[in-house]
Amino acid sequence: MNKNVRKAVIAGNWKMNKTRPEAKALLEELKPMVADIKNVEVVACVPFTNLETALAVTEGTNIKIGAENCHFEKSGAFTGEISADMLAEMGVEYVVLGHSERRQYFAETDETVNKRTVAALAAGLKPIVCVGELLWERECNITEEVIARQIKLDFFGINADDLKKCIIAYEPVWAIGTGKTATADQAEEVCAFIRATLAKLYSAEVAEAVTIQYGGSMNAANAAELVSKTNVDGGLIGGASLKAADFTTIINAAENG
Ligand code: PGA
Repeated sequence: MNKNVRKAVIAGNWKMNKTRPEAKALLEELKPMVADIKNVEVVACVPFTNLETALAVTEGTNIKIGAENCHFEKSGAFTGEISADMLAEMGVEYVVLGHSERRQYFAETDETVNKRTVAALAAGLKPIVCVGELLWERECNITEEVIARQIKLDFFGINADDLKKCIIAYEPVWAIGTGKTATADQAEEVCAFIRATLAKLYSAEVAEAVTIQYGGSMNAANAAELVSKTNVDGGLIGGASLKAADFTTIINAAENG
């Protein structure tokens, strides 16, 4: 395992938070705090309504902007949806796909996550694809089966070159927004399993190149231990990304880890 072949990526997932003035204020505060970060890709995934503001505020800085979802069709009669092309045209670089909240509340399935991933890649976006087990699945000891199934389905038909453009976020559903973080060993165990699964499906070289994040109640206090793990290449951060100081502490932990 060679962590040095992968750049750490710390991505904030703002979810349904922040008006435009609030988004501007948060990013203006964050900009100088992360200006010297060299080894970590800093990303803010923001609501659609904040994308234009976020892109303008971060222009010329080391903060990259992502969206929180996209539709899989290029255009058409899909009221309320946003296409990958629409995001790419704006200058958006990343897009979160298959987040457990989308799966849970908006009926997204591995099939639609796969279609969204294909569409995002075709538009030149970098997908952050979320996978993770429910609490009862962990208790039934089928975490690896659940994760392997999600990886196989979500990346079905995606070739090795495109897979390398994807980030996989391991987010145990029981840890999201609950304050219950997976232990660093639990996170490492599943992230290593994801990498081993990719090695089987693609090759060891491809598996080593893919960035795998941990997400789920990652915060300023626990980030350093999580990102110190061999297969944890950063984090997808919800609540703690809404405070510039906490988000910066997490970024610094990855920069120095
Ligand atoms: P959390 O969210 O950090 O608030 O648990 C993580 C996520 O949902 O990506």
